[in-house]
Amino acid sequence: MKTFAMTGGATGIGAAIKKRLQDEGNKVIVVDIKDADIVADLSSAEGRRAAIDAIRDRTADGLDGLVTCAGVGSNAKDHALITQVNYYGTIELIEGLKDRLEASKGAVVLISSNSATMNKSPEYVDLLLSGEQQKALDLGETLPASEVYSGSKKAVTRWMRKNVPAYAANGVRMNAVAPGYTQTPMTEQVENDPTYGKAIREFMASIPIGYPGKPEDQAAATRFLLGPEARFICGAVLFVDGGHDAMFRPDDF
Ligand SMILES: NC(=O)c1ccc[n+]([C@@H]2O[C@H](COP(=O)([O-])OP(=O)(O)OC[C@H]3O[C@@H](n4cnc5c(N)ncnc54)[C@H](O)[C@@H]3O)[C@@H](O)[C@H]2O)c1
Repeated sequence: MKTFAMTGGATGIGAAIKKRLQDEGNKVIVVDIKDADIVADLSSAEGRRAAIDAIRDRTADGLDGLVTCAGVGSNAKDHALITQVNYYGTIELIEGLKDRLEASKGAVVLISSNSATMNKSPEYVDLLLSGEQQKALDLGETLPASEVYSGSKKAVTRWMRKNVPAYAANGVRMNAVAPGYTQTPMTEQVENDPTYGKAIREFMASIPIGYPGKPEDQAAATRFLLGPEARFICGAVLFVDGGHDAMFRPDDF
């Protein structure tokens, strides 16, 4: 039995990841704002600290894996919420559990998004990566929510890749899963939105493989990256999107 911690296990992709790991007999410690072992609000520094402390209390012997899946979608009106949960709720949790992961030579999987590559706000992403939180939040207020969302995902992915050598040097592998359109409570809200619903349904119809993803598709990819068969994979961004990224960026490699 291995011990995994994860954020965002209450619904959608996270719930499928939790189920997959539990079905294999593992211990899974879930942090979420609701329905979780550790109920914490990752949109505040205090909530993130409480989540880290509570995971640490339960993992004195080490942590075999961490999945950062909690996220707020681009339908959120509060742009700061997107930044706080998606960016800081990811990197602070990983940093806060680094020694626990090192103790078990564990693995981290960040749940990014295939929208990260489509982001057109490099200044916002750079502010996040350079630690200028207030400036990033201020700029985020002036951007469309979709840019804040894709920027937060680009920033966590770049953060991961920058930190891969240091983590790998201590035995910890980090990788990202970049989901494409996957039917969850998050997308259900947008699909039914009177303003964006039609465009979203057209977007869904353009997925090359011909169908949207299921949470279980993301859980399978996450499980692979957490496990021993991925022992030489570090810093990868695995697009799990039915071919959308290849369709949008065929020559970008
Ligand atoms: N569904 C998709 O098409 C899609 C595509 C790309 C990326 N993603 C990413 O996958 C991840 C899971 O998304 P999902 O589609 O399953 O959505 P979801 O809304 O079903 O799940 C998000 C989870 O995050 C939790 N959460 C939200 N705010 C929180 C907070 N302040 N503190 C703690 N937990 C909080 C929610 O309670 C929920 O359990 C997200 O990071 C999302 O950005 C999803």
